[in-house]
Formats: sequence, C-alpha cells, structure tokens
Amino acid sequence: MRQTGKIWMDGRLVPFRDARVHVLTHALHYSTSVFEGLRCYRARGGPAVFRMREHVARLFRSAALYSMRMRYTEPRIGRAILDTVRANRLQECYIRPLAYCGFGEMGLTPTKNRVDVSISCWKWGGGEYSAGRSSGAKCRVSSWRKIGPGSQPMQAKAASNYGNAALARMEALRDGYDEAIMLNEMGMVAEGSAENVFAVRDGAIYTPPLSAGGLDGITRDSVMEIALADGYDVAEMQMSRDDLYSADEVFMTGTAAEVRSVAEIDGIKIGDGKVGPATKGLQKSFADVARGRDERFSEWLTPV
Ligand SMILES: Cc1ncc(COP(=O)(O)O)c(C=O)c1O
Repeated sequence: MRQTGKIWMDGRLVPFRDARVHVLTHALHYSTSVFEGLRCYRARGGPAVFRMREHVARLFRSAALYSMRMRYTEPRIGRAILDTVRANRLQECYIRPLAYCGFGEMGLTPTKNRVDVSISCWKWGGGEYSAGRSSGAKCRVSSWRKIGPGSQPMQAKAASNYGNAALARMEALRDGYDEAIMLNEMGMVAEGSAENVFAVRDGAIYTPPLSAGGLDGITRDSVMEIALADGYDVAEMQMSRDDLYSADEVFMTGTAAEVRSVAEIDGIKIGDGKVGPATKGLQKSFADVARGRDERFSEWLTPV
C-alpha cells in the first residue's frame, strides 16, 4: 500500500503517517470495532461512491448492535467519506470507514471509552480477487464452521467476526484454492469468507437467506435487484454444499469481489467449469450500474 494521502480521523484530515492510535486502544485488545468497505468508481459524470447511504446506515447498525455510541450523524459520516476521497484525488478507490472503541479504560467492558472514527481510502488493485473475473475461482468448503447468530450478531460488520473468516480464507489459500465457502453450524451454506454466495439453476438465481449466517451484503442486494430487473427469477433458499456442487453456475458477490465466478468447489467442476452466461451477464450489468451507465439505478451513485 502506498503510504501517502490523507486519512480522516475524528473530523480532521491528517497525513497518512500521522494517522496513529495508542497501543492501549480498546479495539486492539478486544475487537471492539465495526467497519465498512465501499467503492468509488469512475462513473460517467466523474467519480461516484456506490450505495453510500446504505453502507453508512449499516455502519451505524453495526455500532448499535455493539452498544457503541457514535459521536457523529450518518450525514456527517457521508460528508466525511466524500471529503476523504476528494482529499486523496482518487478517481477510483476502496474506502474503509472504521468506528472503534478508543483509548480510555482497560478491561473487557468498553462502555466508558470514546468511539473514534477514521476513514481511509486507497487505490484498489483487486489482486486477491482476480481469480473469478475472466476465469472462475477455485473454492473449498472450509473445515471451519461459520460462527452464528447464537454467538454474536452476524448482521454487524464487526472486526470480531473476521477471526473466523480469516481462518477460513488462510486455510483455503494454504491448500491452493482461491477462496473459502463456509457452512453454518447446521451444515448449510452461509457465505464466503468475505462474500455472499449465489447459485444458478435452470435459469433462476438462488442465495441463502440471511438466517443462514451471511452478512446482509449490499452487493448481494444490488445484484438481486439488478437480476430481477434483467428478467431473472431470484429467490432465497437454504442450500447444502451439494446444491452448490450440482448448480449450473455459482458466483459470489461483495464490494471487493464485485461479481466473482466460481469454477470449482472441492475439485468438482461447477457446470462446465467456465464463467457461466448468467454470471457473465450480471458481471456486465453490475459494472454498468456501478459506473453510471445504467439509468435504472443511477440513484445508487453519490457524486464525489
Ligand atoms: C463476511 C462478509 N460477507 C459478505 C460481504 C459482502 O458484503 P458487501 O456486498 O456489502 O460488501 C462482506 C464484505 O463486506 C463480508 O465481509
């Protein structure tokens, strides 16, 4: 990562190297932080942030689920996101707002600690996600089960969820795969390590319900709406791993991954092992929407 540009820290845009926290920051010890990942795309009329309102709303929902008292309003964080992108003069980038329990009391309960907010952005290389665009990604079903809503709120995009996700991702990469697919404690498909999962069968599109333990992905929602508008039947359905093995196509969605084709799971080819026609169509439709080339969804873009 290039160590240049500005980072928004509690109201101030500070140089990259000065964006520091104390080693006794509560979140470093107890994972008491929530965050977002957004993308800014070079759209027709200039750079624009994709579904900013929904991402900011999810950040605040995540904070509320952990009783974190935000010191800013949602519109204030929205303005700060745009200020940060402008200050970094980037046409396209990944944006990372983070709300974390800061330095104050030490001990498990963070209720007296201030909730600090930072917003960073950087040029998105997409390296980790390159498998899955022109050729499909090779996935494995993780030996780690997805933690579930009986243990912690899965609809919070909280740092504490990502130990489980990182174990699954690292295991998949170590074993020569591109990504992990995680089952929940019931053995049903939950999601990828950082993406939602979809299957295509007989021309219809299916994804597990959120009760299976996946995050309420904003790309998931976008792709479901785009697919409906493109004429597909779209439904939520509980899926076992063999529903994926025997699907015509499998793809994953996420802010980082966008629409990522899955060619193989556990060494089993999905369909003919190539990027399928529905996946290819949705990759194109999503790229058009994100870059402002599709009037039907222009309200999803906030100009920088
Ligand atoms: C665990 C997990 N699931 C799904 C997603 C996809 O969510 P979104 O499309 O909002 O980026 C992400 C990425 O944010 C994630 O971390």
